[in-house]
This record gives sequence, structure tokens and C-alpha cells, in this order.
Amino acid sequence: MKKLIMATTVVLFSAGGLRAAEQRHVKVESSQERDARMAWWREARFGMFVHWGLYSIPAGEWNGNKWEKGGLEWIQKRANIPADVYEKALVPQFKPKDGFAEEWAKTAKMAGCKYLVFTSKHHEGFALHDSKQTTFDAMDACGRDLFKEIVDATKAEGLKVGAYHSVIDWHHPQAYAGFGLPTVKGVTNEGRDNSVYVDYLHKQVEEIVTGYGPIDVIWWDFSKPNCQGESWRAKELMALVRKHQPNILMNDRLYAAKASFIGGNSGLLKEWSSERGDFTTPEQHIPDTGMDGVDWETCMTMNTGWGFNQFDHNWKSSKVLIQNLVDVVSKGGNYLLNIGPKADGTIPPESIERMKAIGAWMDVNGDAIYGTVASPFEKPAWGRYTAKPHRLYAHVFDWPAAGTLAVASGNLNVTKAYLLADGKKAGLRVEKTADGLALALPAKAPDAIASVIVLEHD
Ligand code: GLC
Repeated sequence: MKKLIMATTVVLFSAGGLRAAEQRHVKVESSQERDARMAWWREARFGMFVHWGLYSIPAGEWNGNKWEKGGLEWIQKRANIPADVYEKALVPQFKPKDGFAEEWAKTAKMAGCKYLVFTSKHHEGFALHDSKQTTFDAMDACGRDLFKEIVDATKAEGLKVGAYHSVIDWHHPQAYAGFGLPTVKGVTNEGRDNSVYVDYLHKQVEEIVTGYGPIDVIWWDFSKPNCQGESWRAKELMALVRKHQPNILMNDRLYAAKASFIGGNSGLLKEWSSERGDFTTPEQHIPDTGMDGVDWETCMTMNTGWGFNQFDHNWKSSKVLIQNLVDVVSKGGNYLLNIGPKADGTIPPESIERMKAIGAWMDVNGDAIYGTVASPFEKPAWGRYTAKPHRLYAHVFDWPAAGTLAVASGNLNVTKAYLLADGKKAGLRVEKTADGLALALPAKAPDAIASVIVLEHD
């Protein structure tokens, strides 16, 4: 909600003054300090992403035009809707159900997620927090601080919470409309002063990091080669966030590390630098191998898009999602799995069903996911490995019909092997072979999707 005096505040904070003030807070972090800051995130391995905003209302349809695929959080651009038309049409319809945030948090918890990242502002520009910088926010639209509701509900479930914050803004009248950024047709840069928008961006982010207690992640999105880094006054923005939230983690999307979210491992390693953020985010993509020394998180949709789309029935199976999670973790990454709630905040039943299946699997097998690191061995034909001190976990996707599983062991001295699903930890017969171990398995797999065998070693 905007107070009248705030119009002048934007002007008062001249870029230079704020910049000098923020830079005083930059201090060099030791690698131990960084490891301590990253610890919960590396332990977590699995998070829930939520895309929800005004775009959840049209849900893939505008003026009779329908889109069956892809991110319909982009409908404003897809249908080229001017900002004022978009705002007028959608704001009056925005009526989130009471308690929706508890449903999100409970769903994340049930699935075994350790953190939840939600869109505090997507490219449409609508802010879920109570912003003094604009009237295009939840408080003005429906009299509620939805950011607070989501953060509080998530923390109440004992989960870490993060805000996805778009630096692109299709609503702000001064924001860049060009420089390679996607924009709504007909909008040009004529008469725009992007520095006014960047001040606004910084002020909104400051509201988020000062108004709601500890926030664990800021998930920036996104930049292009001609519009990145100092176009957003990125260093100053990151310093501002760290000043108020010294333990926070941020991704690297204030910079255009194209390879990091489109694919291609080598490009990513070349371009990545910890000055750009704490972790990188391959999008809709699992890298072929892990990346030494780089923290990464694959974000992925359950159907084809991020925001709710009533026409998109192209759902990945629970099997694919569980095996993706294992695949990502076996390479040392995190998996951030998206749900796109409906306009009123309720989660589509297809997503609930999948989160339940993942949760049931995690209840039995979470030990082979949380706190594990990348496999020390090449990926085997039958599944994946994850590892922890004194434990190697074999995740078997294809249960061997012959009853014997060939497992790599390198120079590990394996002392015991058992099924993670077996509460009694009954030892499996282990024989040394020329290139590893042969495990004698029961005829039936404990889990049709991925059965985990624990190999204890000294
Ligand atoms: C993108 C898209 C977007 C989505 C996101 C998730 O870059 O613009 O709609 O929120 O990535 O990774």
C-alpha cells in the first residue's frame, strides 16, 4: 500500500548516496563462512517452487485465445496486454482463499521438501508483499499481506523460505522495455528513465528483506546479455540484501549466465563466479554430470509451465519426478520442483497427488537424499548412487531379474549392505568381484520406482 510521502522518497535516495552506503557493508567472506551459510541448503537437496500471481487468474486464456503449453505466467506478453488493461481486468478478481499458504507449506512438508521458494513478484510486476512503493500490490488488491502469510506459514512448518523476485517488470512505467529483454508488444523505451525503476526495485527488495524476519533465499530472475549486472546495480542490490540478511542465499540470475539455465555444462563452468551469487540454476534441465565447486539447483515444472494453466494436462509421472530428484542429488545438485496454484491459491489435484507420492518415497528413503553428496562413481546402468560419510547409497531404478546387482566399490571397505526400506537392516549377501561387489537381492523390489540399498563402509 502506497503512502503519499513515498513518491518523494524514491527521489531522495539518489543512486550514488545509496550505493556508497551499501558498499560500506561489503566484506570478504572466508570459505568456511560461506560453507556455514550454504550448509542448510546443501543438506536440504529438495525444495518446492511456487509460481502464483495475477497470471493465475486467466490460467492460459485471454479474450478467447488459449495456450496449451508453456509458462502462462507470461500471458501478459503472450497476449500483449497493456499494463493498465491487465491491472484493471485482473486485480478485482484476485481473491485468495483463507489459509492457502498453510496448504502450500503443508504440501511442501508432506513431500519432504526442506524449503519453499515463491514468486513475490513475477514479470507482471504485481507484489505479494505490502509495498509502500506502489498500489500494484496484494494489500491494495485484497487488503492482505500475502508475502507475510506465505512466509509465516512456511516457517511454521519448520521450512526455510525464499522469494523469487523478478527484476523484469512489465508494469512499472519507467522500466526498461528493450535491451534484449522480453516485453509487451507496443511498449518502447521512449521517455522511460530506467534508473527510476531500478530505485523502485531496490526499495521493494529492501521492504522484503526488512519487513518479514529472516528470509533464507532471494531467487532473482532474469537477465540478458544486454541487460544484466550493473543494469540492475546488482552489486549494490546484493549488498543491500546481505546488509539486512547476512545469512541469506541468492542465485546468480542478476547476471546473464545463459548456459546456467538453458543447458550445457561446460559453458556454465566457464561463466560461473561466486561473485554473481551463491548458486546457479539450470532451468528445466538436469546437467549430465555434477559441477565441482559449483552449487547448483535444477528448477523444473510438473507439467509444461510454471504458472497455473487450465489447459496443460501434460504431467510428468511421479516416477519421472522421483527419479529426477535422485538423478539431481546423485550429481550434487538440489531439485526445486514447481507447483502452480490456481487463482484462489489452491494447489491443482494433479500436483498434490505427485507431491504425495514423492513424500511417501521420501518417508522411507529420505536418508539417501538429505545431507548426501554427489556419487563418487560413474552412474550405473541400473540407477544412481548418492553418498555420505561411511555410507554409499545405491538407488536401483531397474531391479535385476537375476537377483544380483553389480555395485562399484572403488577402495571402500564395505562392512554391511541392507535395504533402506528394511527396518531390521537384514544384511544382504555381498561378494567381491573383479570390478566391485555383487549383491544378492530379494526377488521383489521394495519400491517400483527406486529402491535404495545402503552400503556401510569404514
Ligand atoms: C524464467 C521465466 C519464468 C520462470 C522462471 C523459472 O526465466 O521467465 O517465467 O519464472 O524462469 O526458472
